[in-house]
Amino acid sequence: MTWRLRRATPDDLDDVMAIESSVFVTDAWSREGMQHELASPDGWYLVATPESDDTLVEGYAGLQVLPGAPDADVQTIAVLPHARGRGLGRTLMTQLLNEARRRGVREVFLEVRADNPGAQALYLSLGFEQIAVRPRYYMPDGVDAFVMRLAVPAPTTRPADSESEQIA
Ligand SMILES: CC(C)(COP(=O)(O)OP(=O)(O)OC[C@H]1O[C@@H](n2cnc3c(N)ncnc32)[C@H](O)[C@@H]1OP(=O)(O)O)[C@@H](O)C(=O)NCCC(=O)NCCS
Repeated sequence: MTWRLRRATPDDLDDVMAIESSVFVTDAWSREGMQHELASPDGWYLVATPESDDTLVEGYAGLQVLPGAPDADVQTIAVLPHARGRGLGRTLMTQLLNEARRRGVREVFLEVRADNPGAQALYLSLGFEQIAVRPRYYMPDGVDAFVMRLAVPAPTTRPADSESEQIA
């Protein structure tokens, strides 16, 4: 399966909310909250559509970064169940982190439910580390949140070395 990623717009609200409310159920964002996110100049949201049908949204992810801020937050990420396990979640996260780096962000934070080992494994594999626990953060379930942080490596550039860059 192949997907196209594009920047989300306020017109994607219905599709994003359909996934949000089916995937997160008890702690889904409200429609108003998501509407605000998609319209916010501080938000950067992506939606994924299958290559065969660009009217279907099968996943999304969003970053919040205030202008000039040294840190950013991964606000949310979700992939429909039938599309999971094929690399889409990792690709969405990688694109968010690339955008954070483009904006000069040095640290990215996120919260994840303590009972969500799949998402935690994804974040750990991307270099996030757990830095704190927020007890009973997710209500009404009373589930703890793990706060995770990624130190974004600064982009490195160096002048090309005519000797060592030659390809034999
Ligand atoms: C978390 C989520 C976005 C991952 O999306 P995905 O498209 O399945 O992810 P990928 O296929 O790119 O997998 C990336 C990595 O995630 C981890 N992972 C994903 N699902 C996993 C699972 N069920 N168990 C263990 N690890 C899992 C693995 O480390 C995997 O790496 P690998 O492919 O090298 O094994 C998806 O499972 C989802 O939407 N879950 C429900 C919503 C959610 O929990 N969002 C996160 C809120 S903080």
